[in-house]
Amino acid sequence: MNIAHRGFSAAYPENTLLSFRKALALGVTQLELDLQLSFDGHLIVMHDGSVDRTTNGSGNVSDLNHSEIKELDAGSWVGPEFEGLKVPTYQEVLTELDGEPTLVTELKFAGNDGIRPVLEMVENEGATNQVVISSFDLDKLTVVRQLAPDMPTTALLKTDDASARERVDRVLALGADTIGPRCSDTTQELVDVAHEAGLRVRAWGLGRDQGEEMTRLLDLGVDGMTTDCPDILQTILEARE
Ligand code: G3P
Ligand code: CA
Repeated sequence: MNIAHRGFSAAYPENTLLSFRKALALGVTQLELDLQLSFDGHLIVMHDGSVDRTTNGSGNVSDLNHSEIKELDAGSWVGPEFEGLKVPTYQEVLTELDGEPTLVTELKFAGNDGIRPVLEMVENEGATNQVVISSFDLDKLTVVRQLAPDMPTTALLKTDDASARERVDRVLALGADTIGPRCSDTTQELVDVAHEAGLRVRAWGLGRDQGEEMTRLLDLGVDGMTTDCPDILQTILEARE
């Protein structure tokens, strides 16, 4: 499974509708995106807690209103040809990409207050079968499981000293269906223990120049990779078919 990280983010401004559409044009069927909450409670598609890096504005998303975020330019920081791109809301992504890809939706906002609005929006937009929820904040996944037991969830894991067994057990305890290790932490043992436990393995952290790492992970039997370069992974997958 080729999951385009923030869309086709190696070539286009991340987490924009352009980046998502360019990934889909490659034949990718899964998009990863990040959610923040604005001051007035809108679900904003952005990785960082601040708008500084990826827009021409400044300040924390949680201190800005939706209307202020909508005035920002989310393209120029990558290049003048992208000037005028807007920061999308989650609702816009669900509407614009209705019925198309699976949206791997990472909960980045602080606290748990935004979780119910996410699940309600997915339900109201008729996108229940189109969404996977992911987070590094494993408490959030527990809340998701309580509110929407059938929602697929991916537990993202940062590097730590835990064994493969411990990592898999941590994810099983949450009731998540997928374990999301960093690519460099993904070993044959982890893949095997996860699969024996009925978990899918989706590795993340694959940027540019990592074709060899993608091939290694495919050889291990991972079920998916989240990558800034879905073009490279698509080429590798097609060559192996
Ligand atoms: O899918 C996991 C990946 O998105 C994690 O890293 O920092 O890009 O959200 P980050
Ligand atoms: Ca992410």
